[in-house]
Amino acid sequence: MKIKNSSIKKSIHFLKKNECIGIPTETVYGLAANAYSNKAVLNIFKLKKRPRNNPLIVHYNDIKTLKKDCHINNSFLKLYKKFCPGPLTFILKLKKINSISKYVTNNSNNLAVRFPKHPITRLLLKKLNFPLAAPSANKSTSISPVTKEDVVEEFGKKIKHVINGGRTKIGLESTIIDLTNKPKILRLGGIEVKKISRTINLTLTYNTKKKNKYPGQSKLHYSPGIPIKMNIRKPQKKSAYLLIKKRKKNNKNFFYLTKNKNLKEAGKNLYKILRKIKKKKYKLIEVEKIPNIGFGEAINDRLLRASAK
Ligand code: TXA
Ligand code: MG
Repeated sequence: MKIKNSSIKKSIHFLKKNECIGIPTETVYGLAANAYSNKAVLNIFKLKKRPRNNPLIVHYNDIKTLKKDCHINNSFLKLYKKFCPGPLTFILKLKKINSISKYVTNNSNNLAVRFPKHPITRLLLKKLNFPLAAPSANKSTSISPVTKEDVVEEFGKKIKHVINGGRTKIGLESTIIDLTNKPKILRLGGIEVKKISRTINLTLTYNTKKKNKYPGQSKLHYSPGIPIKMNIRKPQKKSAYLLIKKRKKNNKNFFYLTKNKNLKEAGKNLYKILRKIKKKKYKLIEVEKIPNIGFGEAINDRLLRASAK
């Protein structure tokens, strides 16, 4: 991917003025602003129409800059070494003296942090002297964006610049692990729980049904606003049917996440296809059974949340 210097320059210009811009990451696009500035962070909440009590993830370039704001521990170091930069978000304790805007965490002492892998965003972070608070660049409860065009569709002229970093590689949000206490998975995502468990030598699990304390992990979050039915073998004629395995018949209402059960590919395509289905104004989405293993677990989790009433 070629990096356009003019786009980086423009980004720095707007970020320094406390404005929000769209940034590519390996998971989904983010709506980014200066995490050290109250004004900038409040702009994120306003644009997204996000409740103020739903905290934001802060994106750092490296461990050195992170250590100015957060306490780290052994599990963090092991996971950082193995997976970062990459699609893993850590909840850490904030230091007593830190520069993070109180609006990022809704006044709590725990901060979500992540080291995104996209080369353009890494270069941008390196050039800035502040980290970037960035939730997914969609309106609250809408579908996460995986291209620059998706971000423009969400916010139009309300944001002044979106860096074009192509289609995101992973297509699902980062996995979130809380390390402020006994390690605990808070959200399934870009890194499989099994791999995290192995790295810190702990058996971690995740319960999709359990209610989480944070609104962003609640049901109805990733919603295309259309009812979704799971584990359907014979779809209705009028529904949009999500598949993971090629069928002989090819109906107009068939939408393939993958044609050969490649669950990583299915994850990458999920949000793009949900956005397409929404535009085509389908009234019902039906989904073929997706094995609850590897990325399948994260895909099922997102679909279950989206189908919640
Ligand atoms: O892949 C990602 O993580 C993307 C890209 C842009 O980095 N970001 C993302 O942000 O998905 P967002 O805001 O859409 O989702 C962040 C989730 C929310 O559910 C929020 O409630 C949770 O992280 N979160 C943020 N800070 C937290 C904290 N201190 N403790 C627990 N959960 C937290
Ligand atoms: Mg989001």
